Amino acid sequence: MDRLQIRGGRPLNGRLKVSGAKNSALKILAAALLSEGPVRVGNTPHLHDVTIMIELLGCLGVDVTVNDGGGVELHAAAIHSTRAPYELVKTMRASFLVLGPLLARFGQAEVSLPGGCAIGARPVDQHLKGLQALGAQIELDGGYVRAKSNGRLRGAPIHMDIVTVGGTENLLMAATLAEGRTTIDNAAQEPEIVDLANCLIAMGARIEGHGTSRIVIDGVEQLSGCDYSVMPDRIEAGTYLIAAAATGGSVRLSGIGPELLDATIERLEAAGAKVTSGTDWVALDMQGRRPKAVDIETRPYPGLATDMQAQFMAMDAIAEGTSRIRETIFENRFMHVQELNRLGANIELVSASTALVHGVETLSAAPVMATDLRASSSLVVAALVAEGTTVVDRIYHIDRGYETIEEKLRALGADVMRVR
Ligand code: EPZ
Repeated sequence: MDRLQIRGGRPLNGRLKVSGAKNSALKILAAALLSEGPVRVGNTPHLHDVTIMIELLGCLGVDVTVNDGGGVELHAAAIHSTRAPYELVKTMRASFLVLGPLLARFGQAEVSLPGGCAIGARPVDQHLKGLQALGAQIELDGGYVRAKSNGRLRGAPIHMDIVTVGGTENLLMAATLAEGRTTIDNAAQEPEIVDLANCLIAMGARIEGHGTSRIVIDGVEQLSGCDYSVMPDRIEAGTYLIAAAATGGSVRLSGIGPELLDATIERLEAAGAKVTSGTDWVALDMQGRRPKAVDIETRPYPGLATDMQAQFMAMDAIAEGTSRIRETIFENRFMHVQELNRLGANIELVSASTALVHGVETLSAAPVMATDLRASSSLVVAALVAEGTTVVDRIYHIDRGYETIEEKLRALGADVMRVR
């Protein structure tokens, strides 16, 4: 199993190009199921999760060609299965996002329930309730969701009981081919949803209000192929900005503008970072200073992303002062606390959703273990600060979401090696 060996204690300095967004690319690839025509997706990140989605689509009968440089061409003209098997869905929850497109185009789908995962129970009740509102009959059988519709799905008003990114995306895709108008109220507003909607619009869908809490979709009879380029990964970008801040460094990221990073930049500035930006770059300079402790509370977009919480905790661990971190999206997203404490941090869990981080001047190397994707990246941030050589085990979690992380960190001057 691969591990990352990181000799910490030096500031990150340099320039980096941000990769395409994992959490947008996965849904856009699934959206290719909605059309008979070829969908060409550019700026797809080279990541383990993307490979799993391609494998799943291939097993449904989508003809997939992967080109050099992040291009993926998908042709879903000859689907021979509408069943997403447990083996693939269990390794990646985003696989559940094929449900909406399959059901909308073929009138049936059988998709394994994703089950819980390390960061929480993560039910899919909102996805199912919404599909039922669109006229689908849903049965749960043997760990699978069996969904059917008599003819096309029918547009309907849907009110989401909670804000869910995946739920909004599944319903958005399903509604594009439904008969009539669907409104999704209390929709998630994440930029990745806007990206998916823009791709669907390029395929001929009629969508308005994406990026707000009310999305209106007027169903069309069919969608066509399209060329679309995936948005930049705001979580990858935020992770490198935090790593630079935690190490007292200076980085300039290209391929992303500041508007996708508003909440993250606001917290970094509160920590004492000097942040500058242009239309497609963001730079952070910590001028060698130690960060000041900043409180963090995760929220649906436009609030601070839960996917940034662990990395901010790593920065707060070496900041001046004490900070309070509240996780409001997932019920079990503090597994990095114990591992950060192994590196010498002083973090107290005051409840299941709140941690108090008493900043210490420095961390020291220790063997640590990655437990989920963002928890792993927080360990990398901490290891970059820690004195000595830290080995981060189980980095397959990191490979799910960070393209060539060791190369990118080395380009910023870090002493990082992948070892087996
Ligand atoms: C997406 O997960 C992202 N994953 C997550 O990123 C991200 O943390 C999350 O959105 C929140 O921003 C992908 O895009 C592939 P949700 P998703 O549905 O869609 C509850 C990463 O590290 N809920 O918005 O699964 C759920 O349990 C990953 O890249 C229900 O109760 O998240 C959670 O508490 C991790 N019923 C909350 O809503 C439902 O039917 C938000 O989940 C659906 C969700």
